[in-house]
Amino acid sequence: DRQPIIAIDGPAGAGKSTVARQVATELGLIYLDTGAMYRAVTWLALQQGIAIDDECAIAELVNQCKIELTPSQDLQSPVRVWINDTDVTQAIRTKEVTSQVSAIAAQSAVRQALVKQQQIWGKRGGLVAEGRDIGSHVFPDAEIKIFLTASVSERAHRRQQDFQKLGQPQVSLEELERDIAERDRKDSTRKVSPLQKAADAIEIQSDGLSASEVAMQIIDYYQQRL
Ligand code: C5P
Repeated sequence: DRQPIIAIDGPAGAGKSTVARQVATELGLIYLDTGAMYRAVTWLALQQGIAIDDECAIAELVNQCKIELTPSQDLQSPVRVWINDTDVTQAIRTKEVTSQVSAIAAQSAVRQALVKQQQIWGKRGGLVAEGRDIGSHVFPDAEIKIFLTASVSERAHRRQQDFQKLGQPQVSLEELERDIAERDRKDSTRKVSPLQKAADAIEIQSDGLSASEVAMQIIDYYQQRL
């Protein structure tokens, strides 16, 4: 017997992280950021000077690394991410990691290893898991499946605000829109577990909605269903 699982999938910048964290906090569930795991592996590969397309070396790397995610205590402090005992909480959010992560996430050895880990963590349920393939592949029996989207321009705006908040260098909206569209394309067209709305997922288009409004919709839905 396991506790309920809420799966939140969708493209880059749709607001999944903020929404997933709010829902988890409100409902007393654990928040699982699966994108952070793909980012951590990408960071490690870059740090070790492994070529992103060297699938053998990356497979070995992912099968030997240890990833830890420590849930944050409140909405203000970030979820801490560790790989092989190095705190990479901030390092995994750089432009360099962001631009390479889709290529790593497209490799089947990487997905197998990380999905297996996610399923172990999710065995007892009681979590809000966020990613691209959670409802379709990682937890196909999740009680609640949300597919969260927003237009490319809305997502670029949000990313720009995120960068501002983090005190990172300004990036133009055009460049952000291009990056987001490119990441959408890579994530949706890859052969292994592409980003895809599960047949039984509810789609929420979040243009013009705040994260709290989206979180409220999901919480209402959860309370009606369970
Ligand atoms: O959500 P976030 O932007 O941090 O995810 C980074 C990248 O990790 C995505 O662009 C995607 O390539 C990959 N990813 C994935 N499957 C997941 C979560 C993330 O392929 N479940």
